[in-house]
Amino acid sequence: MENVNDIIDNEGRSIPDHIAIILDGNGRWAQRRGLPRAMGHKQGCETLETIIGDCAKLGVKYLTVYGFSTENWKRSEEEVGALMKLFRFYMVKLVKVANEHNVRLRMIGEKSRFAPDIQEGITRLENETRDNTGMTFVFAVNYGSRDEIVRAIRKYTIEALKSGKSEEEIEALTEQEFAGYLDTAGMPDPDLVIRTSGEFRISNYLLWQSAYTEYYITPVLWPDFNKAELLKAIDDFNGRERRFGGRLKK
Ligand code: FPP
Repeated sequence: MENVNDIIDNEGRSIPDHIAIILDGNGRWAQRRGLPRAMGHKQGCETLETIIGDCAKLGVKYLTVYGFSTENWKRSEEEVGALMKLFRFYMVKLVKVANEHNVRLRMIGEKSRFAPDIQEGITRLENETRDNTGMTFVFAVNYGSRDEIVRAIRKYTIEALKSGKSEEEIEALTEQEFAGYLDTAGMPDPDLVIRTSGEFRISNYLLWQSAYTEYYITPVLWPDFNKAELLKAIDDFNGRERRFGGRLKK
């Protein structure tokens, strides 16, 4: 395996540098228990807290979780309202969890669509955990990969216009340079994407960044996901031969 950090746990597993998760199944988890969907999201937040701690302890360097997509605004007003309420409450809790595990928090996505107090909360939690030196927990909120790429193009173009870049200079733009305009600037690409609740979809998540990422899909619903399931995903990842478009090494 290549491109994996040098952390091996005490059971001989190589721990991926960057794990990304598409958390799914909160609604179904609640419905199966005859509970409102919001209860599934609440339980999902508790699972998230545990998994942040587990990943930090395992030595994962980046954990990126899809919390709310640019498409999620299409849900009922009641559900979006409940999610925003939970997000407000959860942001405060996240700082506590992060500080407990020496975790730095970072949000990716288009923040201006959130209410002003939520935007301020995001800035605050990034600042309050900036000096932590362990894992970085990245929360993707109002995130969509296509939106991220278009925003990056706008940013690059505006800068190019303002600085009077020549056509030749624009032609010289590299993939690496372009990646610096994405929300994930400075982060390594994910090694492993885990999707819970059994759907085989990317759902507009880290499209650019996951060009060579390994996917692991589990039928387990997010609120039921736990350390044992996380280790299963890492074990499966350890069995993959990563070639990054090259040939298998003999
Ligand atoms: C996926 O389950 C879950 C979500 C789209 C929301 C996740 C929200 C949190 C963890 C709370 C934090 C809040 C914010 C706004 C960041 P689903 O509802 O799609 O489940 P289903 O497929 O079973 O319906």
